Amino acid sequence: MYATVVKRLLFLTGNAGKLAEASHFFEPLGYQVEQFLVDGEVPIVVEPQSDSLKDVAIAKIEQAKALFNKSGQDAAIFVEDAGLFIDELNDFPGVNSASVLNQIGLSGILNLMSETINRGAEFRAQAVLFTGEELVFGEGVCRGIITSETLGESGFGYDPIFSPEGEDSGRTFGQMDKTEKEAFSHRAKALESIKKQLDLLGR
Ligand code: IMP
Repeated sequence: MYATVVKRLLFLTGNAGKLAEASHFFEPLGYQVEQFLVDGEVPIVVEPQSDSLKDVAIAKIEQAKALFNKSGQDAAIFVEDAGLFIDELNDFPGVNSASVLNQIGLSGILNLMSETINRGAEFRAQAVLFTGEELVFGEGVCRGIITSETLGESGFGYDPIFSPEGEDSGRTFGQMDKTEKEAFSHRAKALESIKKQLDLLGR
């Protein structure tokens, strides 16, 4: 009888919410998710100015690969870029979601939308994993609406103002636990796609 091999995934992110969701997704599947650190710190990577989540994710994984190659460890490395794209705001905040949230907060977004009837928006996620030999890409989109007030305190980022399509009682991600959010989320879809490809590659 062979022991189960736990595969390590090193996730390059400074976002504790993303890390927790990736762990919640991958760990039941036999992967151990760890934060990618160099000398105990999340390495600083340069993000290109681009409207494309994929371009940003590729730039990050290339920098992660260069750092990782020196470490001599046996693990897959992983990055993910995501953002909130609001229909009536021409996809704002999009790739700038993290910095916009820091600058204007959830109340800033709600103020921008105070007169807006079309509340449609979507989260998009682009994940990229480097197995050591090949790059594997996964994308996920979650449509929903921006609520008129913040609801709930779970999750991170824009979760308290986003209610996904198909959530019949109108709860936001901020009112869901990780398992409930995973049933809808852009991140879970992107990770699911990566997992399927890893299975096909036998990794
Ligand atoms: P980045 O991918 O590190 O550039 O950051 C994306 C930003 O989008 C995060 O800092 C959050 O503000 C927001 N975001 C991405 N995914 C989610 C999510 O699942 N819930 C809430 N906010 C998110």
